Amino acid sequence: MTTAVHKSPLMEVLSGQRSSIPPIWMMRQAGRYLPEYRAIRAKVPNFLDLCYTPELASEVTLQPVRRFGFDAAILFSDILVVPHALGQTVTFSAGEGPLLAPVMDANEISRLGRKIDVNTLAPVYETIRRVRGQLAPEVALLGFCGAPWTVATYMVAGRGTADQAPARLLAYGDPSAFAALIDILVEASSEYLIGQLAAGVDAVQIFDTWAGVLAGEDFERWCIAPVQRIVGNVRQRVPNAKIIGFPRGAGTSLPRYVDGVAVDAVALDWMIDRTFARERIQGRRPVQGNLDPLVLLAGGAALDRAVDDVLAAFAAGPFIFNLGHGILPETPIAHVEQMLARVRRQ
Ligand code: CP3
Repeated sequence: MTTAVHKSPLMEVLSGQRSSIPPIWMMRQAGRYLPEYRAIRAKVPNFLDLCYTPELASEVTLQPVRRFGFDAAILFSDILVVPHALGQTVTFSAGEGPLLAPVMDANEISRLGRKIDVNTLAPVYETIRRVRGQLAPEVALLGFCGAPWTVATYMVAGRGTADQAPARLLAYGDPSAFAALIDILVEASSEYLIGQLAAGVDAVQIFDTWAGVLAGEDFERWCIAPVQRIVGNVRQRVPNAKIIGFPRGAGTSLPRYVDGVAVDAVALDWMIDRTFARERIQGRRPVQGNLDPLVLLAGGAALDRAVDDVLAAFAAGPFIFNLGHGILPETPIAHVEQMLARVRRQ
């Protein structure tokens, strides 16, 4: 299978070209900082129902592109639809974030589905087809999944945790059970990304939000190796698939990630030293990032300065402007407009 790739500024950067004005999108660009998102969200009490209703999910995906003219739309869904499609109970409670029925040992892991339930995820693919049909060809459509490690941290703890201790404890205490869970997630995530590419996304991003708590051998085993297996599986079916990796918090392990994972581009968090990232990463792959979401919230002169710093750091090579993590719900729309105008020199 080869996908119909649309020529767009973002896809050109993913192919290694430099652009004098970088393409721009934002992680979590469809979300609660937008009044038009909150209006739709208020009508759907259950967050997963929003992800699984193509009519609404496609509308929410398109909202930030319509309002701001971003260079990419990112599919509106969540990384936790994969555990849900493997049969785990997943709910989102207001103010508390995700709640899952935890899988805490080998026995509970063995009861999970081996494969994602096609019917559960069919509406996500339908959302992609609808969005692609409505999106201008020069706007890229991005799909995504969570990396196995990050998804496993939620599956094991049953919720978000500050230090991912439950998953780390299981990985230390019963590495073969934990490896079995990672294996299931590698296969499920590969299928899911292949399905998204078949439905019409131009590129995919693999979010490893909690990569930063892994060091040394653990970073190799639970971050690099599983993500590389996904990249290999996806390219076996879709040889021209474009893939962005986001190992958040990887810090000085980032060069090892680039050695071990054949992603087309690396998304940088706001914590990384920009000189290090330019010298050690951007020389080898296009990079994306890395404005601090908090400076976007702060606005004013600090925001202008921070945008200029990001642009100056990465101007010499292939670069996609983004945040270093998702936009915060309290962020004023005017600050997003200020950032966009500065990046586009308007
Ligand atoms: O970026 C986008 O606009 C596309 C949609 C998207 C969502 N989640 C929608 C969402 C994407 C790409 C994600 C990824 C995701 N989800 C990650 C990886 C990236 C990251 O932010 O670290 C993670 C760890 C999750 C899991 C998740 N989903 C958490 C921890 C939460 C609760 C925290 C929060 O922000 O509320 C969610 C809920 C969620 N996913 C919301 C949105 C818009 C908010 C839910 C709501 O509207 O009430």
